[in-house]
Amino acid sequence: MISPVRWAGDHLVLLDQTLLPREEVERVYLRWEDVAEAIRSLVVRGAPAIGVAAAFGVALAARRSAATTFDGLVADLETAIKGLAATRPTAVNLFWALERMRRTALGHRDLPLEALRARLLAEAQATLDEDVAANHAMGEYGVALVPAGARILTHCNAGALATAGYGTALGVVRAAHARGRLAHVWVDETRPVMQGSRLTAWELAREGIPHRLIADVVAASLMARREVDLIVTGADRIAANGDTANKIGTYSLAVLARHHAVPFYVAAPFSTIDPSLPSGAGIPIEERSADEVRRVGGVQTAPAASPVFNPAFDVTPAALITAIITERGVFRAPYAF
Ligand code: MRU
Repeated sequence: MISPVRWAGDHLVLLDQTLLPREEVERVYLRWEDVAEAIRSLVVRGAPAIGVAAAFGVALAARRSAATTFDGLVADLETAIKGLAATRPTAVNLFWALERMRRTALGHRDLPLEALRARLLAEAQATLDEDVAANHAMGEYGVALVPAGARILTHCNAGALATAGYGTALGVVRAAHARGRLAHVWVDETRPVMQGSRLTAWELAREGIPHRLIADVVAASLMARREVDLIVTGADRIAANGDTANKIGTYSLAVLARHHAVPFYVAAPFSTIDPSLPSGAGIPIEERSADEVRRVGGVQTAPAASPVFNPAFDVTPAALITAIITERGVFRAPYAF
């Protein structure tokens, strides 16, 4: 199994996703500050995976804190939580995990500090284990929506790499493949960071799951030729009304899918749902560096001084989503999560 985030006795290990598919390098983390940098720089990415990594970041902060009182330890944890929360704004799983760790700490004032440190580590591990279980459940619910011989299109990487393991959208793909229902996956390369070609294609190739890589601009003509049976993507944040933020380019696919009458599904765990937002209008959209667009694979392909607009995510209105696949079942509009 691909494990992008794992605890190894006394340290956190992250698979460096910036180096895939060329190199498989695992990195060791002992300090929350380095975990925060790993999230910011996409060593670990994908909404559930950054949530789990951040939870371990808080556990690391607890282990390294020299505090001798509960209040001192909580103050150190709050510093770590603030720093980890400042890394990436869109995926709500990050804030969900940090809040869970905060609640765990505040709920155990009675524990000796060493026991509280152990309790926080156990909580981080629980976020990891629960995420893997949720992904398998989503795969089971999702496979019921997949017709025999399906050609599934996916965008970005919502696979094992983006989660604690197995994946959300790729969980549905894995389950469909295991049941013999999958013809092949159309993998969008996903400009500008190429999560599709670098990461999704790597995951599928590794497991012998049939797939074909396409440039993002190919999706429309494939749908026109009736070569896509359904689209499944992941999500970074789902508002209460079902509006869904996901990797930039997801919204265009949903518009295309509606035009061509192709079902468009989102697969995401409840940790991706943000009930505090009535609609997608309130979802903060991360803007990343200009060089992600000006350069391809480290090579400059645009004038160095050209101004760039580089939003990392867009919002697909709920009206364009056929259904949302979660670990608690398949939801359809009007959404009552
Ligand atoms: O910028 P990234 O690579 O973190 O963006 C990831 C996505 O948009 C995924 O589709 C989303 O996080 C769902 S992952 C199960």
